[in-house]
Parts: sequence; C-alpha cells; structure tokens
Amino acid sequence: MKKISFLLSLLLLLATVMKAQNNTGLPQLGKDSIKNIIAAMSLEEKVDMVMGLGDRNWTNPPSGPKTVLLGGEAGRTYDIPRLGITPAVLTDGPAGIRIEPNQSGHSHPFYATAFPTATVMASTWNTALEEKVGEAMGNEVLEYGSDVLLAPALNIQRNPLCGRDFEYFSEDPLIAGKMAAALVRGVQSNGVGTSIKHFDANNIETDRTTVNAVISQRALREIYLKGFEIAVKESDPWTVMSSYNRLNGFYTSQNYDLLTTILRKEWGFKGMVMSDWWGGDDAVAQMNAGNDLLEPGDYQRAALLQAIKDKSLSVKVLDRNVASILQLIEKTPRFKGFVPTYHPDLVAHAAIAREAAAEGMVLLKNDNAALPFAKKVKRIALFGKTSYRFMVGGTGSGEVNYDHAASVNDALTEAGYQLDQPVVDVYKQYIDSVLNKTKEEDRKQVIAYEPEMNLSASFINEQVKNSDVAVITIGRQAGEGADRPVSSFTLTPTEQALIHDVCQAYHAAKKKVIVVLNIGSPIETASWRDQPDAIMLAWQPGQHGANALVDLLKGAVDPSGKLAESFPMKYADVPSANTFPGEPKEHPVNAFYNEGIYVGYRYYETFHVPTAYPFGYGLSYTQFHYSDLTLSSPTFDHSITVSVKVTNVGKVAGKEVVELYLSAPKNEIDKPTQELKAFAKTNLLKPNESQVLTFTLNESDLASFWSGISAWVADAGTYQVRIGGSSEDIYDTANFTLPQRIVVEKVHNVLYPNFLLHPLMPKDQQ
Ligand code: BGC
Repeated sequence: MKKISFLLSLLLLLATVMKAQNNTGLPQLGKDSIKNIIAAMSLEEKVDMVMGLGDRNWTNPPSGPKTVLLGGEAGRTYDIPRLGITPAVLTDGPAGIRIEPNQSGHSHPFYATAFPTATVMASTWNTALEEKVGEAMGNEVLEYGSDVLLAPALNIQRNPLCGRDFEYFSEDPLIAGKMAAALVRGVQSNGVGTSIKHFDANNIETDRTTVNAVISQRALREIYLKGFEIAVKESDPWTVMSSYNRLNGFYTSQNYDLLTTILRKEWGFKGMVMSDWWGGDDAVAQMNAGNDLLEPGDYQRAALLQAIKDKSLSVKVLDRNVASILQLIEKTPRFKGFVPTYHPDLVAHAAIAREAAAEGMVLLKNDNAALPFAKKVKRIALFGKTSYRFMVGGTGSGEVNYDHAASVNDALTEAGYQLDQPVVDVYKQYIDSVLNKTKEEDRKQVIAYEPEMNLSASFINEQVKNSDVAVITIGRQAGEGADRPVSSFTLTPTEQALIHDVCQAYHAAKKKVIVVLNIGSPIETASWRDQPDAIMLAWQPGQHGANALVDLLKGAVDPSGKLAESFPMKYADVPSANTFPGEPKEHPVNAFYNEGIYVGYRYYETFHVPTAYPFGYGLSYTQFHYSDLTLSSPTFDHSITVSVKVTNVGKVAGKEVVELYLSAPKNEIDKPTQELKAFAKTNLLKPNESQVLTFTLNESDLASFWSGISAWVADAGTYQVRIGGSSEDIYDTANFTLPQRIVVEKVHNVLYPNFLLHPLMPKDQQ
C-alpha cells in the first residue's frame, strides 16, 4: 500500500514538473476549456485571432512576419503558442487541393490530383461515388499537411455564362445539396475540415465583390438557400464561407439574419463561418453578424480594436467568434500533432478520378450506334485544338496543380488507336507556335482562349482515306472573377466550319464523326448538332478525364451521366438572360432575380420553352425499362414511399439514373410544373438484371415557401409522382392525395428584397 502511494505521489510530482516546464501554468487548448483559454487572451490576441494570416503581404504583423506553412495555402488562422493554439491551414478548392508543387524543405513535388469538376460530379448523380472522391481528396489534404479544404462550392447554376459554373453542381438545389453533403462527408472522414461556399447567391462573377443580388424570399428559401440547408443538415461541415456579394442590400458576411438566424438558429450549424477573401467592407458588422473569421485578414485590426473601445462591438461577441475558431482548431490534424507523409497515394486516386470522370460524362447524341467505336475502328483523325490540350478544369481557385494530364490524343494512342499523323502534325505545330510566344506561367490555359485553327476543306478531304472515324473536340474555358461573354455561348464561324467540313467529308465516305465537348458549362448546340453522328459531353473532367473519355468512346464503360444543368436552345431562352449579370450590364450594382424560383428546368417546363437537351437527360449504350411503380398509400400521411423497378433490357451492362419528380397542386400560390424530389443511381446492371429503387417523400418534400406567412406549406390536393429518365422522359406516374393543408415549418421572416421585383408568373396560374 505504502509502495503504491509513494508511486502515486511520484507520478503527481512528475506531472506537475512537466506541466510547469511545458507551459508555465497557462491554460492550454485541448486540455483546458475554451472559456479559460479565452480568459487568458489579451484583447489584441482576440482581435488577431479573428483575422487570418493568409496574406503574405500583411502590412502590420503584430509579431513579425510569419512563414508560410504550406506553399500555396489560401489562408490560415492565427496561432498563440503560449496557449497551445496552433494555426489551421486553409487550402482551396472544389476539384482537389490547390498547393504549390515546389515546397521548401522537400525534394519531391507536391502534386495533387485534379479530380473532375463539380459539374461532372453532379452529372454522375451518384452520391456514393462523390463521397469516394471526397475521401480521396481529403486524404491529399491530410497527407500534404493542410487542415481545411475550401470546398465544395454549391451555388446554383443560374446562368450558363457565370464564370464559376464549372465549380458548381447544378441548377437544382436538391442535387447541389446532396452532392455537397456527400463530398463533405468524404473529405471530413479523413479528420480534416471543409468549407461549403459561397453562402449565399454568388451566381455572378462580374463585380462580384460589390454586386447586390435582389432575390425574393421564396426563391431564396426554395432555390438559393436550399442546397446549403441540405448540406449543413446532412454532413455537418466544419466551416461555411460567406460570399463576396451583397444580398438584398447587405453583404452576406455582414448579415446577421443569414449567418446567425438562418444558418445557426434555424439549421443548427455548429461550426465556424469565414469570409471569402477580403469580402465585405465592415469588419465590425461581420463580427456582429456571426462571420467569425476574416480571411485573409490584414487591414481590420485597428477598426476592431476601436470598435471594442466605442462599444460598437462587444467583447462577448468577439469571444463568441474566437470560441468558434478555437473549436475548429481543436479538431484539426495540425493541432492533434498529426505528421503528414507528404506522399498521398496518387495512383489509387487516379483510378477514382478516372472512374468518376467516366460516370459524369453525358452522351448527348448517338445516331445509329455511332458509339462505342465499332471493332473495325483502328485509325482516328482527331480535330480541334483542345483534343491536344484537354481542359482539365476551370481557372482560379478551383484549379489544381497536377503533374500531368493526358490529352485526347495521348489517351487514344495509349488505348491502341492510330492517329492520323498529318492532322496531329498541323495541330502540334499550331499549339507550339502559340506556346512559343506565351509566357511560361500562362501556357497551361492559353490554348483554350486561342481561336480554333482554320483547316481547308481539301486538307480535311485528304484525311478521310487515312482514318476510320473523325473526332472533333470543342473547348471552352472560364474562371472566377469574370463571366463568360455571350459570344462564347455559340460556336465561332471557324468551329462551325470545322464541324461542317469534317462531317461532309466523312459522311461522303460513310464514315462517322463524333463531337466531344470539353466545356465547363452549357453552350449552344441546336444549330450544329444535326451534323455529327454522336456528341459526347466530357465537361472539364479532371486530370484523368481524357482516359475516361476513351473508356466511354471504346465502350469499356457504358455512359451513365445525365445533365444536372439544362442546355437551352439559345442564350436568349435562359430565364435570366435579360437581367444577367445585372444593371448596368458593364458594372452591375444590382442584379434582379426576376425569374424567382423559375431557374433551369423549373422555367423551361413551366413556360413551355423547348431546350436542346433537358435537365436529367443522357443516353446510354444500353436501354432500361421501368415497371412496377408503387406508392405505399393513395393518401399521404406524414410520409409516403415510392418504389419502382428498373431492368436493363439492352445488350451491355450499365447504370441508370432514376429521377423522381413531383407535381404539386396549384391552389394558392404558383408552382413549377414539376420539381426533382429524389434521385438514385442503380448498381451496374447486367443485361436482364433488375433493381428495385425505393424513395421516401416527407412533408417537407411536398411543401413550397409562402412568403406572406413565412412558412413551408404543403397544399391540400392531388400530387403526382413522376418517374423518369430525364425531366422530359417521364416513364410512369402515380397520384396520391393530401387531404388537408399542412404548415410544415414556420421560419423567420427575414432577408426580404430591398427593391421591388417583377416576378415571372406562369400565365395559367396568374
Ligand atoms: C474565392 C474562394 C476561394 C478563396 C481563397 C476567393 O477568391 O472566391 O472560392 O476559396 O479565394 O483562395
């Protein structure tokens, strides 16, 4: 007994000595309560804490210049070693971690995987696959020594000219929210964080740091907030990034109703909110609104200290924000002492990126089974500059510094096809001449912005005898900070001529022509799509996308991607065409979202505007038959279950996206013809194999937002469940009734527009 108590006293003594040695008795993050840590901080330290240290040109560092922890980091949080507060490193972005390949102190390059962009991932309609991509992406975040990935970006694809369309998922909030939630779960399963962004309504890049998005409360709730609500509730992201823009008069980062009333009180968000880089114009308002962290944080120090003095900012609010940041830091690998290997398994991740890219490409046209290539196809004439410089992703913070990306020519050669050499030679020559006159740092993207090359009809004719099939790639590039010009929506005369001349020459010899679209967002197809035999929408599919494309072209994989963004016939058909980017057009001050909830297919269908390719559309090399649509009851009571059987009735194995639309009764307020309420992707079904898919609809799935009473309301009446392979191919329907109106949820009456909007209203519902 004596021996034990002696040992215990010795241990106690040892612990006390160690504690004294470690931290001179000060509270330590992780060991002591956050309350105690904050109590031990000076006012200046608290103010430093709410400002990041990402800007290397920081003008007034309180304790000397800080070194960069990870080359290419977008930002970080402040560290206070005496209190055990480590920094958290924040890195972009949505298609993979964006860091510098050359890192000081390391002899090997830190290449990251450029995964398919969000638009591709949404077109997979496969949340399990998105989660798998997230796991791989998050592993690179962890193993390269970052703590938080600034992704996913889930703003609504409101207009195809938005410069960041490729970074976003869909025109539909259900897909955007579900995909974002899946990515967050995957990334965070590695013990690193995410930042869902840009909250909210960052749908315009022109003058994005000042433009005011004027949006009705209904459109906000049903369209622009919905995806974020789903992601917050279904994946618990560590952080949210407020957006650059103003929303109904106020900067989002300075809007208490957005960041606190809705995000925290209504949705139960427990994490930290950070600003977009240099976003907003009033640090005090940001603090009060609940925007905990200012990134990258450089000029706000004096203003915040002054605000504490003059009491426009209370210490209580400052402490609350500091607490949010400390809670985040406590969760990070850096805080936990994780030692990265700096060697993530890029080979394993390449396989995942390739699988995802192949699932997200969309076969838009395939006349007479032009694809997959017939067995006799051995020689290919490959046209279009981006065939030789495939666009992996868009530009800006969504870019990834990868090692090498195969182009279509590399991937076809690797797959054993023989390329028509004279065509290869003219393109190589052209590309080299452009690259030679371009600065090294601009070379990666330059080809996408150069005009397509003029090829004479006689040169094209010459190639027909040397090749079994022609492939033409049409490319587009865009990125943050600017929107695409309207002119980039249509093909240039040279691109039109290329398609025309190649089709004419090859069709004369009964040979087929395939067009590949290497684009980040929809373009015009209606004027030329009749000419080629097949059109494959490859999007901007990441570093391994060209190999994935070839997997589809040769039939190693069956195409199963479907559009999560409609392809309009012409730009003027886009519901926001007249109001985008805003008023005045050159430098918009306000952007009036007059189309309200009628975004994408909600508009095209309700207003009977034909599209080139509708939302949810995509072909396959096999066919699927839908049967046995069953509802659990003819009357809705709290929930209803819908099941349907899908059978592969074609000749090759494939996966099918099953889309469940709901058409609601139109009694009190106007409603779209139908809305996507659930979706699923089948397993890989062999010919003759079936799968039964089951969906549950809850009260909230029936509800629309009534601004007058600020509530989600499900109208009484008949609801129609529509099961389809696209929004326009509805294979079967079933009705149920809701006997009595349900007020599903009352919410705060906030975020009303600061201008009168002129909302679109379907004629038959006015
Ligand atoms: C972008 C964000 C990005 C941040 C940090 C901003 O310009 O809008 O999406 O995360 O920069 O790089």
